[in-house]
Amino acid sequence: MGLWVSKGILATWVVWSSIVVGVNSGASSRASKNPPFALEAARELVAPKPTLREKAEFEGGGFWEEHDDLLTRAWQELGPRHGDLYKYGHTFEKRYLSKALRRAARDAREGGNETSARDLFKEVVPGVFASEELFTQEFLNDLLEELEHVQGSGIPMRRPNGMNRYGVILDHVGLESSIQGLVEASVRPLASMLFPELVGVEDADEHFAFTVQYDTAGDTELAKHGDASVVTLNLCLGRPGWTGGDLRFFESGGSGFHVGSSVFKALPRGNASAGSGDLSFRPGLAVLHRGQHKHQALPLVDGVRTNAIVWLMGKHGVVRVAPYAEHEQLSVYERWHRTSANALEL
Ligand SMILES: *[C@@H]1O[C@H](CO)[C@@H](O)[C@H](O)[C@H]1NC(C)=O
Ligand SMILES: *[C@@H]1O[C@H](CO)[C@@H](O)[C@H](O)[C@H]1NC(C)=O
Repeated sequence: MGLWVSKGILATWVVWSSIVVGVNSGASSRASKNPPFALEAARELVAPKPTLREKAEFEGGGFWEEHDDLLTRAWQELGPRHGDLYKYGHTFEKRYLSKALRRAARDAREGGNETSARDLFKEVVPGVFASEELFTQEFLNDLLEELEHVQGSGIPMRRPNGMNRYGVILDHVGLESSIQGLVEASVRPLASMLFPELVGVEDADEHFAFTVQYDTAGDTELAKHGDASVVTLNLCLGRPGWTGGDLRFFESGGSGFHVGSSVFKALPRGNASAGSGDLSFRPGLAVLHRGQHKHQALPLVDGVRTNAIVWLMGKHGVVRVAPYAEHEQLSVYERWHRTSANALEL
């Protein structure tokens, strides 16, 4: 389960990996009878410690695959602290999405007008869109408390990705379906609005969601990299009080496609979309950027910074890098009406 397979390049597509096999809501299927006491059994496991700082997608892979079922059942037995986080719907939206985001989504979906959605964001670095208006303080608080609950459970957890060693794969602890609901209702339409040349009909059907934690005793920084995503949402949860730890973006543009050794330049240059600059996180600040826009987490000097990150990608983890021509891009209507199942209820 999860995002851990091979990387390969097919023409203008990057096939990174995947498939996310569902761990559904911990709240809905608490019972796990076969075998009983998965929680106790999972706590007895001795997991391999993450050590590598890069290309660690497979670190300890055998262990995690072997115990996948048991761990899934253990999370279900543990159950949530904040049940509202596990189910996307009216309650989730009212509690966790800002009024501004709900209004913007409604204007776009019902009125075909994206003005208020665009007004949520500032382009803080060319190609990097930031907003402090997407989520409520309750979302940050509940998610941080849920992370404490999960991290204090004694259930072993896989490192969040091939570079960060500390954090939680949200999709593995029961949050996959609610995050997918959030993605479909608002993150994907927003990504398509901001990056219409990259997010077409099926380019963001799947997600991979995790948290990363920076502190002076663990990971303090992250080397320059691109994400295995078409678009990334990076939300700072807090808690306040750290110093350092800015996010640095690098000019990642180029002209046309350059598929070479490890160089992949499909993004427009500079201010046209993928420029350089630093940004400082504050709790509640959410950033959307293209996955291929190279970035780096600068050293954290003091304190702890926790961010939640959602990578958007196509089916089977496919990451589109070839831009759509203008006439191929989604209309406002298409962006906001891809799914009806999870449409905002307000
Ligand atoms: C879209 O909404 C804004 C206000 O949010 C308004 O000023 C603008 O005229 C609207 N555009 C259209 C085409 O209705
Ligand atoms: C790029 O954007 C910055 C501010 O974001 C601006 O100062 C600069 O003039 C722009 N450069 C070009 C070439 O448009």
